[in-house]
Amino acid sequence: MTIMVTGGAGFIGSNFVIDWLSKNDEQVINIDKLTYAGNLQNLKTIEGNLKHVFVKEDILNRKKITALINDYNPRYIINFAAESHVDRSIHAPDQFIQTNIVGTHSLLEATRSFWNDMPNHEKNNFRFLHVSTDEVYGSLGSNDPAFIETNQYKPNSPYSASKAASDHLVRAYYKTYNIPVLTTNCSNNYGPFQFPEKLIPLVLHNAMSGKDIPIYGDGLQIRDWLFVIDHCNAINAVLKTGKIGEMYNIGGLNEKTNIEIVNLLCETLDDLLPKSDATSYKSQIIYVKDRAGHDKRYAINASKIENDINWYPTETFETGIKKTVEWYLHNQDWVKNVTSGDYLNWVERNYS
Ligand code: NAD
Ligand code: DAU
Repeated sequence: MTIMVTGGAGFIGSNFVIDWLSKNDEQVINIDKLTYAGNLQNLKTIEGNLKHVFVKEDILNRKKITALINDYNPRYIINFAAESHVDRSIHAPDQFIQTNIVGTHSLLEATRSFWNDMPNHEKNNFRFLHVSTDEVYGSLGSNDPAFIETNQYKPNSPYSASKAASDHLVRAYYKTYNIPVLTTNCSNNYGPFQFPEKLIPLVLHNAMSGKDIPIYGDGLQIRDWLFVIDHCNAINAVLKTGKIGEMYNIGGLNEKTNIEIVNLLCETLDDLLPKSDATSYKSQIIYVKDRAGHDKRYAINASKIENDINWYPTETFETGIKKTVEWYLHNQDWVKNVTSGDYLNWVERNYS
């Protein structure tokens, strides 16, 4: 048996593929365009594993993707491939429309032609799982209840709008063509292999390099943080027992303001890697111009996945953050490798 993953050289996708191969004897076809966010180094620990087939390809290449799906006959297609960074979507939205909307549509079309020719006895086991985000629901006020699956979609950034559009397409392919889809809407992930344009790895990288640690606006925005392996476990659980056509919110029950996160990261580093002058990394924190259209708060009500699928996060924030900081400390070569070239241009463009 075989599963197909798109975007499996990115942060969550690579964690998913490595985790899958550590628990299953089933082949993974990993399709990734290798944008700036995709990195074969993330997959180094499974190099030489014959159960892992990596194909450098764009999900927009429908002909090639259709051929790959037909050749490998996967029972699951899990779509992680996306442009995923809100700030980049504000600077340059075009690629978000292409990959997240047109690319998801193209993948759905390739899946539809595969599904149409699939023998009936295989149809029961097939699933198309679309990995989406809580950002599609928009922003919450401090006293609003957490997002549930029936909340209205109110995306506020080009990134979240493109993900919202892709979710609608996925739903439409279930309603119109009976493709057995599942959609997961997850909160902010953290953990190994996260590209240092996102808050947690950026703070770690800047702190250790003696650079400013930039906080957008007042730093009081709230996110709900989930360790990446808990997200992978949730995806596996939804694939196994999720109800076709349904959406599942995934979150860590772990709402924190950005400034709390940054302070905690600095304190963890103070412990694990004290500065030679004995000052705290907190002295590097600076407040910078706010993100345009910055969402104030995300919070996930995960009752549906907990009650219907019996999934719960296993990592506490404290243990997850410790593992994450230790991973970045021990993988400085990886950090060096991804923070050269285009990364430097990005930092110049976003923070100057
Ligand atoms: P990422 O940016 O780290 O990785 C995205 C991967 O997709 C990269 O390997 C990239 O090369 C690949 N890719 C991009 N365009 C492609 C294309 N056209 N064809 C093939 N591959 C392409 O993103 P991530 O943080 O790992 O997120 C993965 C998915 O999870 C995304 O769909 C994102 O919207 C969603 N998500 C992310 C988070 C989070 O906190 N990171 C939370 C909820 C949902
Ligand atoms: O909620 C899920 C989403 O989480 C995913 O769908 C996205 O793919 C993922 O990138 C993430 O989006 P955010 O915008 O919440 O993540 P980011 O790490 O970019 O920022 C987290 C918060 O930290 C946000 O409020 C902005 C703030 N921030 C971020 C950076 C990079 C700063 O204050 N300073 C920074 O330099």
